[in-house]
Amino acid sequence: MFADRVLSGMRPTGSLHLGHYHGVLKNWVKLQQQYECLFFVADWHALTTHYDTPEIIEQNVWDMVIDWLAAGVDPSQATLFIQSKVPAHAELYLLLSMMTPLGWLERVPTYKDQQEKLSEKDLSTYGFLGYPLLQSADILIYRANRVPVGEDQAPHLEFTREISRRFNHIYGKEPGFEEKAEAAIKKLGSKKSKLYNELRNLYQEQGDESALEEARSLLNEQQNLSLGDRERLFGYLEGGGKMILTEPETLLTEASRMPGLDGQKMSKSYNNTISLREDPESIRKKVRTMPTDPARVRRSDPGDPAKCPVWQFHLVYSDDKTREWVQWGCKNAEIGCLDCKAPVIDKILAEQEPMAERIKKYEEDPTLVRNIIADGCEKANKLAEETMRDIREAMGLSYS
Ligand code: TRP
Ligand code: SF4
Repeated sequence: MFADRVLSGMRPTGSLHLGHYHGVLKNWVKLQQQYECLFFVADWHALTTHYDTPEIIEQNVWDMVIDWLAAGVDPSQATLFIQSKVPAHAELYLLLSMMTPLGWLERVPTYKDQQEKLSEKDLSTYGFLGYPLLQSADILIYRANRVPVGEDQAPHLEFTREISRRFNHIYGKEPGFEEKAEAAIKKLGSKKSKLYNELRNLYQEQGDESALEEARSLLNEQQNLSLGDRERLFGYLEGGGKMILTEPETLLTEASRMPGLDGQKMSKSYNNTISLREDPESIRKKVRTMPTDPARVRRSDPGDPAKCPVWQFHLVYSDDKTREWVQWGCKNAEIGCLDCKAPVIDKILAEQEPMAERIKKYEEDPTLVRNIIADGCEKANKLAEETMRDIREAMGLSYS
């Protein structure tokens, strides 16, 4: 019901590596040119699993923001902020908790999965159970309709949509809704109200999605509707009550799969990463010592790229010509593994060069990053407050 708004968050639990760059950040950099974007440090989410090691979180918050800037996230295009500096996230989390069925949280698949995976930690906590609800608050408080996340987060987005629907269902009803909606239609003027009614019928009677889209953009163009009437007309389109909260869509990342140095998923816990601000010498060394197809004991032994983690890197970094050269050279024992790794090393170094360049000024002057975040937090607080006003009112909390 509002213009497209993208929101995503990242937990500050370690320094960022090429997996984050190719899986997430590259996509953020692209999105910031197409949409209004909000990107935030999910420090409260980090506490759900790291409540006993706060020092890890503190260290990583600023480093993570610098990594974002290195990757090309641009504070003049996107709003960057820290979750805990926008306390309204916590207020909304609390308010939503009142109407969240316990069973919904217990059934989110990541809950049991993560508890088992991180079995060395005690995660039978209230905060950990509430993880997806806090995420819902993050999203709903900005009425963000597009959330770029990986597959693993899909259940949290589905959960958020359900919470949003339930909220609108419980709190979106008002006495005399139909009459008020009809009155609001008249305010559109005779031509537009006729069009609105036609499109609404097309959608409600025939399920015509494009009519729904068209009606929404018709409403989006109306400058002089009051906020209340706007919400009514959006809600009325779909047959419900007022739409106070938006249902977010998942923007699945078309991520290039970036494996680790050993071919497993790149992850700090596997010790197979190349970080975003890694020293060139260390990059060379890490790639040179990468394992290769075990069949190639000697240079004269033919190999198979399909069995080699270096080939995965060529899939991320190399053009067709180089890939053909690898296939042919490996299978016929015409190239050595170090020859094969050389273009990969060059590409990684070339990728990191502009990153190092971008962050020089931030490393020299830490106040720059603090200022960027202070600006972002101020903007985020304003946006969050706009939604909170409607939510408090809907929940009977706007006393004066
Ligand atoms: N749970 C997300 C992750 O682990 C981080 C996150 C928190 C998030 N709040 C969010 C992502 C809101 C998108 C939107 O990756
Ligand atoms: Fe791997 Fe390249 Fe060696 Fe073949 S030549 S085993 S693809 S590193």
